[in-house]
Parts: sequence; structure tokens; C-alpha cells
Amino acid sequence: MKTFSLTSDLEKALKKERNSGHSIGFIPTMGALHEGHLSLIRESKRANDVTVCSIFVNPVQFNNKADLEKYPRDLEHDLRLLLAADCDYIFVPSAGEVYPDGPGNPDIDLTPLDRVLEGKYRPGHFMGVAIVVKRFFEIVQPDNAYFGKKDYQQLLVIKRLVSMLGLPVRITGCPTLREPDGLAMSSRNLRLTPAERKTAPLIYETLCRVKERAGQFPVGELTQWAKDRINKVPSFKVEYFEIVDKEDLHALTDWNDPEKALACTAVFLGDVRLIDNFELFS
Ligand code: PAJ
Repeated sequence: MKTFSLTSDLEKALKKERNSGHSIGFIPTMGALHEGHLSLIRESKRANDVTVCSIFVNPVQFNNKADLEKYPRDLEHDLRLLLAADCDYIFVPSAGEVYPDGPGNPDIDLTPLDRVLEGKYRPGHFMGVAIVVKRFFEIVQPDNAYFGKKDYQQLLVIKRLVSMLGLPVRITGCPTLREPDGLAMSSRNLRLTPAERKTAPLIYETLCRVKERAGQFPVGELTQWAKDRINKVPSFKVEYFEIVDKEDLHALTDWNDPEKALACTAVFLGDVRLIDNFELFS
């Protein structure tokens, strides 16, 4: 495993790999790694000759400064996990290395993907994600890149970025890894109090109940039922709970296209905001 903090050093090493005919798989992350991230590394290792993982808490995608400051960071722990996962290259750049000329603005239109669900509550977030991922694709020039369906909307944004700019990289969406009690793995789970952590599986449980009831009740009634179920816990507050078309994320009002139905939610547990989603007819 080789760790780089300078863009030019990583570029040199990867050029050698490419010249040897080696395919490159890439997983961008913000660190605080867990099994969910490692599942992407494993997927890349299965399909590529070398695997590159970046760890960079991208300031440009945080619309909330406090969230950026509170984002968990533990590089030593991350490097230990990546060593055990046998990842080949780790890139841990500073903001100056990633954005030597400032973040800039890629010439892409993310609408309406960046206006709904997360986009509605985190203005600028997806453009920030697109900016950093585009920059990392320039540096790493991967053949394949891996993203989790846990951040389903992000996955669609990245696919849009790649198709709009005609970038030569194949994007693979990977399944959401969950804790044994169903809670979707997330770096933010570390910030939950013991009491919040204990009750947090209610989000997944509710998604499962909604899946059982899908098609049997009107969409609006079912989403209201789900919100009420989660909001019953005094410290939990649903920001949104929507059933959308998984191809373009527009809100569904009926069950005419059931195989496209995806339930998406964001919930505050105290001051920690968690997101999750679930396909209702897969
Ligand atoms: P981060 O939250 O660190 O996530 C890195 C990748 O891991 C993303 O593709 C995310 O969807 C995936 N992931 C997170 N939790 C997962 C889980 N429980 N199961 C499967 N995959 C999971 O997403 C980001 O970082 C950033 O926005 C980034 C793309 C790196 C751009 O800064």
C-alpha cells in the first residue's frame, strides 16, 4: 500500500500502472471509514488491477460549516483498514493540492437532480460533490469508479456528470451495507449518543414497513404514516420522507410504475442528520 499527499506523485505512479496496461479502480471517500467503504474497495479489487482510494473532507460540498467542523477524522484508523483491505494506493491531499486554482465551476447542469430531496435542503451540496469528483477523475483517470447506493442521489449526480462531460470512466453503484440491526453504515453514526444509536434502526424498520405496505395504500397516506412513525420519538425529526422514481427522482403520486419506486428519507437524530433509502418493489 502506497500513500500519497501530492497530486504529482500520485499521477506519476498511476501513469506507470497505465503504461503497464493495468486497469485502475477508484473509490473517493471523506474518511472515517467503515465496512460500507470497504465493500467498495473489495468490489474494485475484484474488477481492476489496481485500486485507488482518496480520503478528503471536501469543504466545497458542506453547506453547513458546523457539519464540516464536526465531520469525524481519524486517518490512522482509516489507513489501518485500507492496509487490511489490501488497497494499493491511498491519496490524502490537502485542499491546496485538490484545488490549486480554487474549486472553479464545471460547466454542468444538474437540474432537477440537485433541486429535490437532499438538494432542496443542502443547496450547493451536489455541485460541490460534482466539482471534487470531476477533479479526482482528472487526477486518477480511473477506468472504473465505485459509489454507494446509500447516497443514491449522489450516485445519479455522478452518472449525470460523467455523461454530460463524456468522461471515460464506468460508474458502478454498490449496495448499502447495514449494521446487524439494519441501521445504514455511516461515518455520522459515530456522533450519535448511545440512546440515539439504540433507537436509530427505527429508520430502516420504517422503510421495511413501507415496503410491505407499498401498493396497498395511497402514496401520500403511506409517506405521512412513515413520517409520523419516526417523529414519535421525541429527539427524532424527519426532514423529508418521499417516494420517488429511482431514475430521475421525481416524486411519485401513484403506484403505476411500481418497479421504479424508491423511498428516500433524511432524519435528524438530535443534531445528527442521517439519510437512507430503499427500493420498494425490488
Ligand atoms: P463518503 O460519505 O465518505 O462516502 C464514500 C463512498 O462510500 C460513497 O460512494 C458512499 O455512498 C459510500 N458509502 C457510504 N456508506 C455506505 C454504506 N453503508 N454502504 C455502501 N456504501 C457506502 O460520499 C462521499 O464520501 C463524498 O460525497 C465523496 C463522493 C467522497 C465526494 O467528496
